Amino acid sequence: MKNNNIVSESNRYLIQNYQRYPIKIVKGSGSWVFDSMGRKYLDFTTGIAVNNLGHNNSKINSSIKKQIKKLVHISNLFVIEEQVKFAKELVKFKPGYKVFFCNSGTEANEATFKLARKWGIFNGGRNIIISATGAFHGRTFGSLSATFPKKYRDGFYPLVPGFKSVELNNIKKLEETVRKNKKIAAIILEPIQGEAGVKFVDPQYLKKVEILCKKNNILFILDEIQVGLGRTGKVYCHQHYKLNPDIISLAKGLGGGIPCGAIVANSKIADFLTPGSHGTTMGGNPLAMSAGLSSFKQTTDKKFLKDVSRKGKLFLNELKKFKKNKFVKDVRGLGLILAIEFFSSDIAKKFSELCLQNGLLIILTEKFNIRILPPLNVKISEISKSIKIFDSALGKMHE
Ligand SMILES: Cc1ncc(COP(=O)(O)O)c(C=O)c1O
Repeated sequence: MKNNNIVSESNRYLIQNYQRYPIKIVKGSGSWVFDSMGRKYLDFTTGIAVNNLGHNNSKINSSIKKQIKKLVHISNLFVIEEQVKFAKELVKFKPGYKVFFCNSGTEANEATFKLARKWGIFNGGRNIIISATGAFHGRTFGSLSATFPKKYRDGFYPLVPGFKSVELNNIKKLEETVRKNKKIAAIILEPIQGEAGVKFVDPQYLKKVEILCKKNNILFILDEIQVGLGRTGKVYCHQHYKLNPDIISLAKGLGGGIPCGAIVANSKIADFLTPGSHGTTMGGNPLAMSAGLSSFKQTTDKKFLKDVSRKGKLFLNELKKFKKNKFVKDVRGLGLILAIEFFSSDIAKKFSELCLQNGLLIILTEKFNIRILPPLNVKISEISKSIKIFDSALGKMHE
């Protein structure tokens, strides 16, 4: 079907809850994608931090091919060997933890909230979940109730009771909230707020929250859906800050491109999810597990992660040169999640359009930011190419 036809048919047949680029991407290879008109783009969106090894990764492909010949889905009525193998790998970095697999990020957070409530109610009748201002934890009702920006919540009230937001990076406010409320079961944070524009959380604040939680017998949950699994140069982002969360939620790159989410929880807490108390039909199916395991093994290799950090530093140093530009307010990054913040949303929009015209895909994010999420195996030459495109886009901003 021609590009124009598919765009108009997508408007006609699909619910219009996404603002899509009017481009039909037909194939991808490594850091590159190709549209139906034969145009080539450098893809620094990676399907919103999903394609951690770029497109068409040969090892993931061969795991998928092997698995579909054996078994695609069977359900959790049975023991699934691929799930056990994957869980074993995930907890190698979190000894004493256990894993529950689901299908998406929001579903992973729903599992953390249910687990936290079950544990909290047993431990003193506590059922309140605290999240942070600016937070994004997903769009189903529980996760939405922990998500802060108005634009996601408006039109969906009433949300789930028992959720409360406290100002990010303000430990005094959080201590006061904990002092006044004896019914808090858990505090959930993103170590870096991706959707909020790659907003870094003060490392001292993160450590203080963990200590506050331990002192008050409150669960400390980290949502690493966007920043886990090698994106920042470590398997888990919280390793940068030497934190020890009770539960971690994961998704996005977890399934190597096949829908997959998970929680990794301290087994003392994890065992509160007893048979029937939580579940999902498709979660952890053999296909998602095989693809995910292949991606996980490749992206958590020590040498590979070192390289992610090296490339991230190089990328950030190049971006820092743009700080002198009058349109640029700030640049930030850790590993291969980076952002350029502009002085207005119009400037950010124009910049992303110019990048698109020059064959570079990036993500226009909350407020005035563009988010850059290259594949973790991006080449240095591809980073240099993007810098040239950024430079040229900035040069055209006044036109
Ligand atoms: C930090 C964080 N949590 C949760 C989610 C929701 O994940 P999903 O879209 O897979 O439901 C996202 C998605 O962007 C995210 O970035």
